[in-house]
Amino acid sequence: MKKVYIETLGCQMNKSDAERMYGMLECLDYTQTENPKEADLLIINTCSIRQLSEDKAYSAIGVWGKWKKESKPDLKIVFAGCVAQQAGENVLKRAPYVDLVLGTQRLYELPELIKRIETGERVVSVDETPFEESDIKINRVKSVNAWIPIMEGCNNFCTYCIVPYTRGRERSRKPELIMSEVKKALSEGFKEITLLGQNVDSYQGGEEGQNLSWLLRQINALDGKFRIRFVTNYPTEITEELINTVIELDKVCEYFHIPMQSGDDYILKKMNRRYDYATYKKICDNLRSRIPDVTITSDFIAGFPGETEEQFENTLKAMSELELDYSNTAAYSPREKTVAAKWVDLYIPEDIKTDRLARLNEHNRACCLKSNQKYLGREIEILVEKFEEDKKVITGRTRNNKIVHVPYDKDITGGFVNVKITGARTWYLNGELV
Ligand code: SAH
Ligand code: SF4
Ligand code: F3S
Repeated sequence: MKKVYIETLGCQMNKSDAERMYGMLECLDYTQTENPKEADLLIINTCSIRQLSEDKAYSAIGVWGKWKKESKPDLKIVFAGCVAQQAGENVLKRAPYVDLVLGTQRLYELPELIKRIETGERVVSVDETPFEESDIKINRVKSVNAWIPIMEGCNNFCTYCIVPYTRGRERSRKPELIMSEVKKALSEGFKEITLLGQNVDSYQGGEEGQNLSWLLRQINALDGKFRIRFVTNYPTEITEELINTVIELDKVCEYFHIPMQSGDDYILKKMNRRYDYATYKKICDNLRSRIPDVTITSDFIAGFPGETEEQFENTLKAMSELELDYSNTAAYSPREKTVAAKWVDLYIPEDIKTDRLARLNEHNRACCLKSNQKYLGREIEILVEKFEEDKKVITGRTRNNKIVHVPYDKDITGGFVNVKITGARTWYLNGELV
């Protein structure tokens, strides 16, 4: 048996793709290893959301290339994921030891391509026409949560973002395929299903009415105790129907990830986001008034081209005013091909970007702590995700996605237990079993 190691960078979509690659490769007699040094096949699953993530990909394979040259001439190296989709042939020029460049749209072609590189061929497969998916084996990471992609791609073309170029136009997966994956994951013991997509609310199963709410109802109707989540939502695509569905269905969790990107109307326009601050606020207020304890998290970019100090402060204000429960933050990174990258004259100097990012993070920490303190003294159900034998601590998550650490001496991973919240920290809660 040969061994394969996959290094995954980037978002959950890439993590999910890696589980699919491991599954397909197992059918070609490759077993999974955690040690890249003993692998016969090395795959880097790349992310190009920021320059830093792209640089990470090339530096990782640089090391692999050296191993191949110095001691393992038969080693096969695959460059996959979002950077691959974009860079194509250029990867081979930059890293001549790479055997296969596999674009995101060609994931399901992997078995055929592996057979070709095994005969010594070097292949680039980055055609934008998706390779049709088949019912494949999936080797999921052992955890309580199963990632289930329901759609991929994006039609929004926010001016800073590379994703429409790396993941292509929006495409929804067939409901039959999704349902069969969900049922399989549940039968394997997973206790949480997270539906994945760059814009999950754009889901369209094919027949009229087969939208995200419909899909949630199909999954909710399956037997057993488990939770359902979905990410990511585009602010203005959150419909009344979806809110009603979340309220009505017992398994669907009270959690929305709704990237806002900036709290300033001018910057939002320049980003090509289709809402202003007041609209976003209305969406938040509506969710908070209708769904008790709903968690709302967001993404923000600091130092978008042309952003003034005042505009940046509007973002800080928005974060506090909306009492966002948590936010991912990043300094703006110019991405080739995107519209904003061409506004070189408006680039914000690195030191200012760094300073704004630090202030954004500081603000985020304060918001998180405040959000967590609301739960002090309350009794909440958690789904246990982890047991640390040495510390005698279990870690679980509430329905609204708060992490809780609880002293306990047995591994009850996968179980649902009620806890009383006894402490609130910035990133997590402490609790005790009740
Ligand atoms: N589909 C999701 C997010 C995809 S990318 C959405 O619409 O929000 C994840 C996050 O990366 C984005 O929300 C954004 O905050 C950040 N991001 C994207 N491009 C970026 C860039 N060029 N520089 C810095 N951050 C970026
Ligand atoms: Fe990128 Fe915007 Fe699409 Fe999100 S909605 S993936 S930020 S282009
Ligand atoms: Fe990165 Fe691609 Fe995800 S660019 S964030 S891995 S969709």
